[in-house]
Amino acid sequence: MADKTATLTFSDGTPEVTFPIHQSSIGPDVVDIRTLYGKSGKFTFDPGFMSTASCASTITYIDGDKGELLYRGYPIDDLARNCNYLDVCYLLLYGDLPTPAERQRFDSLILHHTMAHEQIHFFMRGFRRDAHPMAVLTGLVGAMSAFYPDSMNVHDPKVRETSAIRLIAKLPTLVAMAYKYSIGEPYMYPDNTLSYAGNVLRMLFATPCEQFVVNPVLERALDRILILHADHEQNASTSTVRLCASSGTNPIAAIAAGIACLWGPAHGGANEACLNMLTQLQAQGGVEKIGEFISQVKDKTSSIRLMGFGHRVYKNYDPRAKLMRETCHEVLGNLGLQNDPLFKLAMKLEQIALEDDYFISRKLYPNVDYYSGIVQKAIGIPPQLFTAIFALARTIGWIAQLNEMITDPEYKIGRPRQSYVGEKLRHVKPYAGN
Ligand code: ACO
Repeated sequence: MADKTATLTFSDGTPEVTFPIHQSSIGPDVVDIRTLYGKSGKFTFDPGFMSTASCASTITYIDGDKGELLYRGYPIDDLARNCNYLDVCYLLLYGDLPTPAERQRFDSLILHHTMAHEQIHFFMRGFRRDAHPMAVLTGLVGAMSAFYPDSMNVHDPKVRETSAIRLIAKLPTLVAMAYKYSIGEPYMYPDNTLSYAGNVLRMLFATPCEQFVVNPVLERALDRILILHADHEQNASTSTVRLCASSGTNPIAAIAAGIACLWGPAHGGANEACLNMLTQLQAQGGVEKIGEFISQVKDKTSSIRLMGFGHRVYKNYDPRAKLMRETCHEVLGNLGLQNDPLFKLAMKLEQIALEDDYFISRKLYPNVDYYSGIVQKAIGIPPQLFTAIFALARTIGWIAQLNEMITDPEYKIGRPRQSYVGEKLRHVKPYAGN
């Protein structure tokens, strides 16, 4: 029996049941209720996973009250200031930061797998030009599994590693292709002499007609966006990837499922929605109209939310939002956009919301997406591409989480239970005349 236990008593005559409590290294311990159904014939009920840990994980830890985010034990602030995105990919994938030799090998491996299969070009032509890039990306990544029939066996560690390298390396190429297709420009092949982020910028913004020089400030800003979005515990898209891969499907298809989930405005779509909100508010009168807008947000009949505010776990300032705000200053300063009206509006709106009792009492603070939209727009990334950039960043988190699940000795196919509240057994009555 575990050192600590929890006992559940019932008022309906069911005998009490005792459960072990497992200790977490930091954060809440967990009551292991796996035997509940066998012992009591009852399920727990927790829609939205408000109090349920779906797995044990060693990858990412969030302390929502402190506003702390750790990847493999390292604070996000440390990583954002001292590492690049590929270092963070290595950390998430293998558990430790790379040594200089490991770093060189890993970077070279990624940079030499950046080209997408040439056949993808023909596949792309089936999409409408005005399709949302997330629709295109979900399709493209799903299709990638068809291009790599050797990636089918998720239980083979070599297959998983090869798929990981392919996904990390090729996602920027696919995202850039989705963008170039939508604006009718030729695809730019990757340039393996550039950094990961530099390559993304080049594939998005270069044309074959002109020399393209990567702006180091924008390169660093994009790299930071990627680091800040690389993983985030058991969020909706990560849980989707885990659940999808738990059936034994191939890893690339499971990542496509994560991309589809990320698209939603309550999740990865929030930065696009946030920028659209700021643009609309600006068009309606900007700072002058903040009071009216906040009243609409607070009106429970309006269903309007202050996008980029609030988080299921962070009930204090999102640490990623602080870093993004800093990057926002750096990028706008570099581009001479310090007086950008949207940025000014965002800062004023943030200040007013943070002083408003509605937001204070509900512990609603800016999340990373509040500023990442402004940074991306300044870099030149159009709003409809924001979530695709997020997907590109989060791919490494999804892969690391998938690997962790598949190699967990207690791994089982994910199969939530339910409380059925529909019709009881009934039978079809013969139709008159039959
Ligand atoms: N604006 C206004 N009110 C809000 C907001 C918001 N952005 N977020 C939460 N609330 C209110 C709710 O209406 C609710 O009020 P009530 O208690 O009076 O009913 C209360 O705060 C609690 O909100 P829930 O929706 O229950 O909180 P939950 O943890 O389920 O939701 C979520 C978190 C979905 C992120 C929510 O805060 C939201 O919709 N935010 C805007 C979208 C957004 O920015 N998403 C990005 C998330 S971060 C990411 O994916 C990287």
